[in-house]
Amino acid sequence: MKILVIGGGGREHAICVALSKDDSVTALCCAPGNPGVAEVAELREVDALDPAAVAALARDFGADLVVVGPEAPLVAGVADAVRAAGIACFGPSGEAAQLEGSKAFSKEIMAAAGVPTAESFVCATVAEAERALDAFGAPYVVKDDALAAGKGVVVTEDRAEALAHARACVERADGRVVIEAYLDGPEVSLFAITDGTTVLPLQPAQDFKRIGDDDQGPNTGGMGAYSPLPWAPAGLVAEVLERVLQPTVDELRRRGTPFAGLLYAGLALTSRGTRVVEFNARFGDPETQVVLPLLRTPLAEVLMAAATGTLDRIEPLRWHDGAAVTIVLASAGYPASSRNGDVIRGVRAAEMLSSAAGGSVRVYQAGTALDADGELVTAGGRVLAVTGRGRDLASARKMAYSGLTEIDFAGAQHRGDIASAAVAGKVRAASEG
Ligand code: GLY
Repeated sequence: MKILVIGGGGREHAICVALSKDDSVTALCCAPGNPGVAEVAELREVDALDPAAVAALARDFGADLVVVGPEAPLVAGVADAVRAAGIACFGPSGEAAQLEGSKAFSKEIMAAAGVPTAESFVCATVAEAERALDAFGAPYVVKDDALAAGKGVVVTEDRAEALAHARACVERADGRVVIEAYLDGPEVSLFAITDGTTVLPLQPAQDFKRIGDDDQGPNTGGMGAYSPLPWAPAGLVAEVLERVLQPTVDELRRRGTPFAGLLYAGLALTSRGTRVVEFNARFGDPETQVVLPLLRTPLAEVLMAAATGTLDRIEPLRWHDGAAVTIVLASAGYPASSRNGDVIRGVRAAEMLSSAAGGSVRVYQAGTALDADGELVTAGGRVLAVTGRGRDLASARKMAYSGLTEIDFAGAQHRGDIASAAVAGKVRAASEG
């Protein structure tokens, strides 16, 4: 099977590594990829937001399957163009990807499907936003209706900050903002692979969105993650499949916009039960860097089955024992800005680490490039995700942080508390079911 992966972040590096280990994959190409991806796949250039260009590249490469990593190409209709070219595609149509592309659409689908989520108002004016903020009170949750590259959500105790974000959203042409009730309780990311009918959940993960320890500072794309969740209620995945994932997939199919690809449910396990915080239409980043390394089932056949409507024929997924923890290393200034060109050292040394109990380290590259001298340098906000695997969460965490200490670049930032509360047994699901 020849596979083309679209994207160039840590998520796509993890997808390419998983595909490169699958014997059924005879050729792997990634566009644009990054220097880390180049170790396992051929790299090509493409404008990922140009559906016709991606379809042309897929034809030129002779792809049997295209896997679209990020949300923006999906919303732009890349999967539609690839399918129209007669090539199987793992990723929803532009219409179905509105589940992530528009928070208001996602709320509409949840209401129609009876999926539990936070109460909300969709506001198109500052006056409406003010009324909504005052109806819910602090903490305020303000979400840009449209895609905002991880910068669309503000959660704050400060009404002025909440209103300023709402204003910035509604004052754009056709701008809208979704203001919703705050959900308490730990958050969980649950991914499901679907062909539009059958839904196959993966292992749950937890990610860490704020830049600083103890969830301080501004939101980021994600500063670390771990999987599985030793504290999660035993029936969580089955409950979310029945009450969230399957009804959502069924509702989209009923509307004539079937969702084939990766449905990502961001959940809060609140004191009043499990609630959906958000849906995404693609693998999460950095959760993919802990979920896929634990998947034992070869990935390509599952993605191809989702793309061709045959997921009901796939055997139950198999998983490696143990756990994985990933720590993101970000460049100076992130998330407000990012600094390029800082030389990165120690990636190889980190990947050489192992433990007597079979622990290992893998470094997934995201914002990296090679400079004129061929040195690996920073080229974006989130630069690396250092994933440690171990027989349990504590050992995996130790491996990840040991790997991190081998790596160095000027201005590097990371969190020191990824998975620490879970290892200490301090995370509790508030859910009463
Ligand atoms: N880690 C959050 C996301 O991928 O959106």
